[in-house]
Amino acid sequence: MRLGVIGYGNRIHGVINGAFRQVDPQVRVVGVVDPDEQGVRQRLAPCDRDHTVFYKNVDQLIRQGKVDALAIGTRCNLHSRFAIQIAAYDLPLFLEKPVATSMRQANDLERAFAKSRCSVVVSFPLRVSPLCTLARRYIEDQAIGTPIHIAALNYVPYGTIYWESAYRDYQITGGLFLQKATHDFDYMSYLMDSPIVRVGAMQTSGQVFGGDKPAGLYCSQCNEQETCLESPQNRQRNQTTGTKSDHLCLYSKECGIPGTDLNEDCSSTVVEFASGAHGVYTQVFFSRRDAAARGAIISGYMGTINFDWYTNELKRVRHHAPFSTSEHAGAGASHFGGDLELAYNFIAVVQGKSSSHTPLETGLQSVYTCLAARQSSTRKNFVKVKQVGS
Ligand SMILES: NC(=O)c1ccc[n+]([C@@H]2O[C@H](COP(=O)([O-])OP(=O)(O)OC[C@H]3O[C@@H](n4cnc5c(N)ncnc54)[C@H](O)[C@@H]3O)[C@@H](O)[C@H]2O)c1
Repeated sequence: MRLGVIGYGNRIHGVINGAFRQVDPQVRVVGVVDPDEQGVRQRLAPCDRDHTVFYKNVDQLIRQGKVDALAIGTRCNLHSRFAIQIAAYDLPLFLEKPVATSMRQANDLERAFAKSRCSVVVSFPLRVSPLCTLARRYIEDQAIGTPIHIAALNYVPYGTIYWESAYRDYQITGGLFLQKATHDFDYMSYLMDSPIVRVGAMQTSGQVFGGDKPAGLYCSQCNEQETCLESPQNRQRNQTTGTKSDHLCLYSKECGIPGTDLNEDCSSTVVEFASGAHGVYTQVFFSRRDAAARGAIISGYMGTINFDWYTNELKRVRHHAPFSTSEHAGAGASHFGGDLELAYNFIAVVQGKSSSHTPLETGLQSVYTCLAARQSSTRKNFVKVKQVGS
């Protein structure tokens, strides 16, 4: 497969070099649009280094690169802009999440793809992960009856990246509903087999991270290294999660202002599905180590299914019979096996053997939900979620 990539950063490199090549070792990155040519050249796999051509823009890449498919791996705020350009071509597209970061971007994206023949595989590894698809299969097989409630949790053990790396730039990410919950709202709708139509949300920011330390401050320049729990040496000593190398201060004014452009320490939502069911979702970004948890409890009158990606375990409880079962999935795969499933699907789409399991509408519907959650958390009221196609 001759692949063209717009924004050849860390994530897309990992997806191509790991998952895509595991499925098809012949995948080659033949063309790239990325202003950081030097950085990209350092990242490119040895099998790509000799033949990858850099192009100034998407049009040139498509016209001259003779590509079979495209991937967008830029940072969040540029996904929709490039996807809209690609909508005019009949080429399969692997698109990183979130597919848009504002209502305007999302609307433009939806409009651009209304008549497009471009098949999009949105990078939603959780939805296609083996554990999630197993849960969905049990629900389809009536393991719990009609799903009436879902409680989803996300205790992120690596959350410090949202204050100590480029992910702290709110102008690029649009906050942690779009950055993180976009996955969770998507798989929740998938499991409940119904879109989210209304959201009530709250967020807490500035209680843990953020502060008034100088902009651009690194641990190595700080006189609090000995006492700060986030310094590389204390993370090392305390065996906690997070990078052990020199990094930007998590208490810097550059992280943003609470309630405006500072990533939240934690946020929660109550969501209503079109089916009439409801659920809750909570994400916590200061949790560490064994506090890691991501998964859901889905219940109907007949039973409950409970799974967690970190323990790789799924439990099924029958409410009206004395039986419960517990199943374990194999561990170690990237994004809980979801990246590999995305790769199988994308390559099958390129070969014309399958349709997308995570089409653009899934990415858009999730963005509409995230935007409603963000709005609800600032305006402190329930917000109706725009529906794709409405
Ligand atoms: N699906 C997932 O589970 C998952 C996991 C991690 C990251 N992501 C997403 O992947 C995206 C990329 O994250 P990353 O950590 O790889 O970032 P990154 O900074 O490593 O990569 C971004 C790349 O885009 C390039 N770029 C910047 N401006 C550009 C422009 N105008 N045109 C073309 N290229 C441009 C940069 O030079 C860089 O190479 C983010 O949106 C993030 O949310 C998704």
